[in-house]
Amino acid sequence: MSIGKRAIPNASSVDEANQVVCGNWLQAIEQHYQLCSVNSTINDILDIGCSVGVSTRFLADRFPSAKVTGLDLSPYFLAVAQFKEKEMIPRKNPISWVHANGEATDLPSNSFDLVSLAYVIHECPTRAIVGLVKEAFRLLRPGGMLAITDNSPKSKILRELSPVLFTLMKSTEPFLDEYYLTDVEEIMTEAGFVNVYSTLTDPRHRTVMGTVP
Ligand SMILES: C[S@@+](CC[C@H](N)C(=O)[O-])C[C@H]1O[C@@H](n2cnc3c(N)ncnc32)[C@H](O)[C@@H]1O
Repeated sequence: MSIGKRAIPNASSVDEANQVVCGNWLQAIEQHYQLCSVNSTINDILDIGCSVGVSTRFLADRFPSAKVTGLDLSPYFLAVAQFKEKEMIPRKNPISWVHANGEATDLPSNSFDLVSLAYVIHECPTRAIVGLVKEAFRLLRPGGMLAITDNSPKSKILRELSPVLFTLMKSTEPFLDEYYLTDVEEIMTEAGFVNVYSTLTDPRHRTVMGTVP
């Protein structure tokens, strides 16, 4: 939740900040899907690195007729995600939760229309980003879309961050240097994605999107 508040510091609440950040991210996904996908509807969504389910719930709310799966490496985060979801009004399509490595999920090939990686890859070495993108390509149907949202290397705020703060951040996010040097668009293109396009969806974050031909 703090991701939203830092991106939109003038928002009156964390909730409002997240509505803006996630609203922009979801709008970018919808626009790219409508423009670039040959498929008409998004029926199956996989949220890789779902953590406690914030991004997963935003996806499920925006696409209520889709079957949404949240997947994470951490069984503890998944337990919290499930607990929080139980406290909500029941959905027509309940969210499924899967404990797996996003680089090798064991889920069937060609089974999703949208794979999302929200705020995951800044925590990963380049090797893992390549693995996550390749696995997303395998999991998506033709016309399906991968959307990666994360810190933007072009963000003015992030570029002007004090070196002390950046060093402090690296104490919990050790691959930040590597992340900023990784060309995500190139990795997606090399994996086979087409229509690879990146847009700044809030002052700190970009969303990189691509389609399976
Ligand atoms: C910052 S959290 C993501 C937050 C969430 N997507 C959201 O926007 O609400 C990053 C998550 O990525 C997960 N993660 C990192 N590498 C992963 C991998 N290879 N497979 C699955 N999950 C992974 C971590 O366990 C962590 O829960």
